[in-house]
This record gives sequence, structure tokens and C-alpha cells, in this order.
Amino acid sequence: MFLGHSERVLAERAGLRETRRVPAFTPPEVRPLISAERIAARVDELAAQITRDYTGRSVVLLSVLKGSFVFAADLARAIDLPIRMEFLGVRSYGADTKSSGVVQITQDLTRPVTGDDLVIVEDIIDTGLTISYLKEQLRGRNPASVKVAALLHKPARIQREVEIDYLGFTIDDVFVVGYGLDYAERYRNLPYLGVLDPSQTGAK
Ligand code: IMP
Ligand code: MG
Repeated sequence: MFLGHSERVLAERAGLRETRRVPAFTPPEVRPLISAERIAARVDELAAQITRDYTGRSVVLLSVLKGSFVFAADLARAIDLPIRMEFLGVRSYGADTKSSGVVQITQDLTRPVTGDDLVIVEDIIDTGLTISYLKEQLRGRNPASVKVAALLHKPARIQREVEIDYLGFTIDDVFVVGYGLDYAERYRNLPYLGVLDPSQTGAK
């Protein structure tokens, strides 16, 4: 059977997933919430939407570090367009599992984004404070457009309404780790998303 380019890419990617050795470690304090397979299927859907929306345009995927690095890597490879990648290092002050909304840029873009179509890639929109701040900052750099792709959204805790143009999953008010998300820099390499049991870590 003859496969087109994107079908071939999809088939290859499915094969890779089957053969890739997936770490099996499951820390006892993490309760699995969204499996690697469900994440992969959703990421492919979001990438297909982005591909449709941005055909013929100059897309820059802007990965907000550190939390979005896994999502951004998977999303980027599933988008069937020539894109550019930029990374923005951000630290949001606040102890433990709460965001303060005070954002410090720890690593800036390497190139100007004037006239580009920006897609900000975030791991999770919790209070919405971080993404609101970033959108405002980035608009000042005169891109042609700014949209937001977020893997997760916790509507229960929202303080600032933000439009999420490409959303993976809506979740309850729980603290999640894995697939790039951390608690005190741990768990980022879990291939799935899980709920961290605060009683096991001292998390609030
Ligand atoms: P916001 O400013 O409250 O929307 O927070 C956004 C940032 O807080 C995210 O980019 C994460 O780094 C962090 N965060 C919020 N909720 C969680 C969670 O459940 N797990 C891990 N990190 C989280
Ligand atoms: Mg983050």
C-alpha cells in the first residue's frame, strides 16, 4: 500500500511508540491520572488543529521552560509544517505547589519574533497569572499573533481569565506531576501524568 508523507510519518511514529522502552517506575506517592497513550493521542489531535490553522504562515512554537519541554517536543514533531522553536525560561515565585503570579524570566528568546505567529506552549494553566503575564510581555515584541497551547487546565483555581486556543485536558484541583511537570524538580520524566499525594511529600 502506498502511504502519503504524513501517513508514513504517523505510521513510523506508532511503530516507534510500540518499540520504545517506556520506564515502568511508578512512585508509590503518584496515582496515575492520564496514560502516555491518551496523552499521545490528544497531542496528535492538537498538532493536527495547529497544522490546519497555520498552513502558509510563519509559526514559532514558544516552549515555556521547564514544565512544557516534553509536551513541546511531542507537539513540535506532530505538526506537519516547517516551524521554528524558541524557549523562554520562567520562574514563578511561590513555595511548594502554589503559584504567586510573580514571574521572573530566567532565559530569554534567542531571536526576535517580530511579525511571527507565536504559539506559547505551556504545561498547565492553574491560576492563569503566569500565562497572562507572558502574553502581555510577548505582545510588546510585536509578533503577528499570539495563541496559547496548554496541555492542562485547572479551572477551579483560575484567577485571571485566559483564552486557551489549544487545550489538552481539563483536570480537577489536584497537583499533577509527570510528562514534564514537577514537584520540587522531581517526576518530570514520568511518561504519564499522575496525581501527587501531598501527605507523602509534605506538599501543600
Ligand atoms: P499559574 O500561574 O498559577 O497558572 O501557574 C502556572 C505554573 O504553575 C505552571 O506552569 C506550573 O509550572 C505550575 N503548576 C501549577 N499547577 C501545577 C501542578 O498541578 N503540577 C505541577 N506544576 C504546576
Ligand atoms: Mg511551568
